[in-house]
Amino acid sequence: MLNFNFYSPTYFAFGKEREKETGKLVKRFGGTKVLIHYGGGSVVKSGLLDRIKKSLQNSGLSFIELGGAVPNPRSGLIYTGIELCKEKNIDFVLAVGGGSAIDSAKAIAVGALYDGDFWDFFTGKTIEKALPIATVLTLTAAGSEGSASMVITHENGMLKRGGYSDLIRPVFSILNPELTYTLPPYQTAAGVADMMAHVMERYFTNTKNVELTDRLGEAVMLTIINETPKVLKNPKDYEARANLMWAGTVAHNDICGAGREQDWASHKMEHEFSGLYDVTHGAGLAVIFPAWMKYVMKQDILRFAQFAVRIWGCEMDFQNPENTAREGIERYEQFMKSIGMPTRLSDLGAKVEDIPMLIDKLQLGDKTLGSFVKLTREDIRKIYELAV
Ligand code: NZQ
Ligand code: ZN
Repeated sequence: MLNFNFYSPTYFAFGKEREKETGKLVKRFGGTKVLIHYGGGSVVKSGLLDRIKKSLQNSGLSFIELGGAVPNPRSGLIYTGIELCKEKNIDFVLAVGGGSAIDSAKAIAVGALYDGDFWDFFTGKTIEKALPIATVLTLTAAGSEGSASMVITHENGMLKRGGYSDLIRPVFSILNPELTYTLPPYQTAAGVADMMAHVMERYFTNTKNVELTDRLGEAVMLTIINETPKVLKNPKDYEARANLMWAGTVAHNDICGAGREQDWASHKMEHEFSGLYDVTHGAGLAVIFPAWMKYVMKQDILRFAQFAVRIWGCEMDFQNPENTAREGIERYEQFMKSIGMPTRLSDLGAKVEDIPMLIDKLQLGDKTLGSFVKLTREDIRKIYELAV
């Protein structure tokens, strides 16, 4: 096991009707003038936004609102949000929605206390301060409600990049599984693909003997696999939605990565893809991940066989563990197919001739990608080709 830091300071308010406590919690965490940030209108339609505003009013808090964060959130609205915060002396940012609204809100919270261009924090500058950010989650997927990251697409070049800091971990997140009842099946399934990927980016590692972290990741994956068919069959199955929602948070608050090297090559390859074609992040991952697994499997056949046996219940072929490893990847692909996820990047609009551009957009220079296997440009090309 490697030395590690694990810091997850978010206060989680989980369960039915917990959004009613929003005002109280904002106050508890020091907010007085709040920017409510949301997406394209699902929270308006569902009445959630009104309930949140009422809760803030009941706690005597003032607020302004900014909607319009799109999936794969863009830089333009963030510049607007930052100006708004500075002009109105906002001291607290509250995101209501899925990962896109939350990430957009995180970027606003960082930019509001910075004189330069917020994009600096996506190109290597260290975040030194940010307004407190909190979330009311409506979509189980990105894990941003408990994570130290934000992912934004800059309209100049459509570069999709991540920014990281413990300062953008939400101070509180309200998780009411009932708020996810209205999700379309495709969005639920794409969320599942993303959650699985968050564990797998940490599970396929060269670090040995991190038994507890392995077992935690396996518990999260098994929970996701068991609960997903239930919510797809009955979107209002509270218990199944609740288990999925908590699994999504635990998948990405980094407890499943403690003490080990993590990979993240598949996410970076997918980000270029969703930045360019504007597809749902989880759907892109459902296709990229198996291609990556097939390509890197030989790095550690026994780890892939462990994934097959423990997660998919495959029988171990002791004569030829590679057969077991391959079966596990196949079972993963079948699962994704069974929940309605695409199996090829071309289903999502990708073209073979775009592959060189996707690789260029990674801006690797002479660096490699990932850690389980350090991928060169040539490796990345082959993985994209396997996926198209
Ligand atoms: O915009 P609205 O109208 O709210 O509609 C959204 C959007 O169209 C809709 N939706 C959300 N909750 C709903 C709902 N529709 C009905 N009922 C509800 N309860 O769903 C659509 C997708 O929302 P979005 O927020 O884009 O989805 P998701 O949560 O999957 O977030 C995706 C973004 O998160 C990034 C991804 O790259 C992508 O940009 N990620 C962020 C991470 C992080 N910050 O830690 C890690 C992830 O790996 C990921 O990269
Ligand atoms: Zn993800």
